[in-house]
Amino acid sequence: MADRQEGGRRDRGRVSGLGVAVGALGLAALLGIAGLIAVYTGAYNVAATEEHASFTRWAFDTTFHNSVESRADDVAAPAAFTPAMIAAGAGPYKTMCQHCHAGPGVERAEWAGGMRPRPPHLTEAAAEWEPQEVFWLVKHGVKMSGMPAFGPTHGDQAIWNIAAFVKQLPAMTSEEYARLGGGQQGGGHHGGATQATGAGGGGSQSSTPQAAGAPGGTQGSAPADAGGAAHGTHPH
Ligand code: HEC
Repeated sequence: MADRQEGGRRDRGRVSGLGVAVGALGLAALLGIAGLIAVYTGAYNVAATEEHASFTRWAFDTTFHNSVESRADDVAAPAAFTPAMIAAGAGPYKTMCQHCHAGPGVERAEWAGGMRPRPPHLTEAAAEWEPQEVFWLVKHGVKMSGMPAFGPTHGDQAIWNIAAFVKQLPAMTSEEYARLGGGQQGGGHHGGATQATGAGGGGSQSSTPQAAGAPGGTQGSAPADAGGAAHGTHPH
């Protein structure tokens, strides 16, 4: 008797488990059909003149953050960003990023405000990302967002310099911003052209910060691969 009751309970458990599975499959099929209808009929409005629907925005943001976080886990960041790296990242930031992401005291270009997603002001957004995440974002870009990948055209050292500069933005005054990287490099966008300090791609940290204060690049031992100047192609 006790056995029969047990068995009955188990059966009922099995039946309702089956019901849930069938329900889930049905729901998945319905969602799939709804998705296909949206894809084929053009029901979804791709116009950038409209804000993203909150669900789309949530799905994109969450995917975006989790994807970057998990992939950047494997990136070894330099132990510290030297002032020389920060200075070397300023010029490239101003020529390659500022028009979309603005800077202290400088607005983004008018057209960049018409992008969806709108590129965030990095003076605020940079605080939310770890240095290796900024590096990853700049190197690989973000699909379906308008954030370009700079890895194909820039070496790791140059990208670490940009990441170093970006991580300083939240604390930077507009005067400092205007001073760093200057406008006087005559077309070159890589700041002090002979910067070669510190943290090569894998994170070999330079433990000589005293050489760092000189944006002109007066480091004693001048390694042959002067990161900032070594790569020739630029995407513009
Ligand atoms: C053509 C415009 C454009 C350019 C140029 C550009 N970005 Fe972006 N960037 C974007 C967009 C769009 C996003 C994604 C925004 C979103 O979905 O929240 C983004 C995201 C980012 C993020 C993540 C910020 C966040 O919280 O969403 C970082 C960091 C970043 N970019 C850094 C850079 C750097 C550094 C450069 C220059 C080397 C650069 N970007 C150049 C458009 C641009």
